[in-house]
Amino acid sequence: MIKVAPSILSANFANLQPDVELVERAGADALHIDVMDGQFVPNLSFGMSTVAAIRPITSLTLDCHLMIVEPERFVTQFAQAGADLIGVHVESTRHIYHVLQLIKQAGAKAEVVVNPGTPLSMIEEVLPLVDQVLIMTVNPGFGGQHFLTPMVDKIRALAQLKQQHGYQFEIEVDGGINDQTVKTVYDAGATVAVAGSYVYGSDDPSQRIQDLKVATN
Ligand code: DX5
Ligand code: ZN
Repeated sequence: MIKVAPSILSANFANLQPDVELVERAGADALHIDVMDGQFVPNLSFGMSTVAAIRPITSLTLDCHLMIVEPERFVTQFAQAGADLIGVHVESTRHIYHVLQLIKQAGAKAEVVVNPGTPLSMIEEVLPLVDQVLIMTVNPGFGGQHFLTPMVDKIRALAQLKQQHGYQFEIEVDGGINDQTVKTVYDAGATVAVAGSYVYGSDDPSQRIQDLKVATN
């Protein structure tokens, strides 16, 4: 059964608390927080203060996906704000190894993220260091986009590398996940699925979380 991390990018920004509590009660495994700077991606969203505000209202793992240039400037502050896991794009920094080390030094779990156009060869050297790898299954920046089917081969290739080397990291996927695409990514080796519009775009988000789990049972 896949782990589910609802993305609050599709939640109600004017009143996040009920939306966070609802997915926690529904059995979500983490809360995915999309941080965007208007530079790395053409959109703006949350910052550290939102993470700090959410921290006391939930015991869910806070999975912070940083879509910002030079994340080394902020990872320590995100950890201090209460992020349990911090994801940084390999395309966003000249020093991915160093940024991942900084995240761990700050006491959080470290995740490396790859855009659809970035090959796995770009992250091979940091795989022994990370707790999670995030394979983007849409171009980052917006919720509600279509799943990019060619990414399934990339998930499969990463799962193979994981097995060959005995790595323990989780494989997360993000973008266009619904009750159909979740099966495909789970079969390819994904262990955590982010879902934004599929969960929060529904009248019954709780049911949608169950649907993702049942589809991979
Ligand atoms: C896109 C974000 C995603 C987004 C996914 O840049 O990283 O986390 O919220 O949204 P859906 O599930 O609607 O594709
Ligand atoms: Zn995300």
